[in-house]
Amino acid sequence: MIAYQKVSGSFDLTGKNAIVVGGAGGIGEATAEMYARKGANVAIVDMKDTCGEIAARLAAQFGVKAIGVRCDVTSQESVDGMLAAVVEAFGGVDILAAMPGFVDLYRATETEISCIEKHININAIGVFRVCKAVANQMIVQGRGGKIVCVTSQADFIAINKHVAYTMSKAALVGMIKVCALEWAEYGINVNGVAPTVVNTYMGEKAWQGKVKTDMIEKIPAHRFAETDEIAAAVLFLSCPESNMITGEDLVVDGGFTIY
Ligand SMILES: NC(=O)c1ccc[n+]([C@@H]2O[C@H](COP(=O)([O-])OP(=O)(O)OC[C@H]3O[C@@H](n4cnc5c(N)ncnc54)[C@H](O)[C@@H]3O)[C@@H](O)[C@H]2O)c1
Repeated sequence: MIAYQKVSGSFDLTGKNAIVVGGAGGIGEATAEMYARKGANVAIVDMKDTCGEIAARLAAQFGVKAIGVRCDVTSQESVDGMLAAVVEAFGGVDILAAMPGFVDLYRATETEISCIEKHININAIGVFRVCKAVANQMIVQGRGGKIVCVTSQADFIAINKHVAYTMSKAALVGMIKVCALEWAEYGINVNGVAPTVVNTYMGEKAWQGKVKTDMIEKIPAHRFAETDEIAAAVLFLSCPESNMITGEDLVVDGGFTIY
């Protein structure tokens, strides 16, 4: 059961322990900062070497516990080691934001199977590996939890050259629904946040020049999203305020998928 808890609208996370996978990237770092601002201890988890620096900054700025853990979600050993390090540092896990991401763009006729496998390995199986490990930890703890995965607008609409990315993110939406169904009895919510293009390294990689201006033209809000706007949706789905929402994929797209 996901229990009712009276909420105030403060989105307070004081005393909660959160993991942000992909935490050294654009949306991930913004999410980790928002969690820390709301009082959560935060583990910055990423393949990059900058996890520790980001954690040190958040600890100093917000007075929470923060650690950096280097982890590759395509390796079971790496994910198991990461979770053990977080449990040792914080004593448990209440929130997981999972958003490691990879994109490489080719027209479908030129897309190698190895390219599709790489996308699925990171964006779908890698995310599932972390969700499964953390959910098992939450079940042992017996106090529920929140899992939020960052998906994409590519779940809903066709975008040129995105076949491998879309296959991986659509798989993630299916995973979110099944895990939400199975883990509700343990008080665990599982949701997605599906952004339009966001101004990050990945956003820049996929959208440049005329493709960028054409895309902005099609978004009713007439711009790309900023990282804090996506982090705010992840925060909402990480708080008791959203206890009655599970298995959802919340679109944050300035109206792009209205069409
Ligand atoms: N930027 C966009 O336009 C956009 C749009 C829709 C969805 N998204 C999704 O948002 C999420 C965050 O992306 P971002 O825009 O902040 O991009 P980003 O490239 O800045 O961040 C992605 C992070 O994932 C990490 N990562 C990649 N492979 C990993 C692995 N195997 N193990 C651990 N970490 C790994 C990277 O090191 C990076 O820090 C991704 O899942 C992405 O697919 C982004």
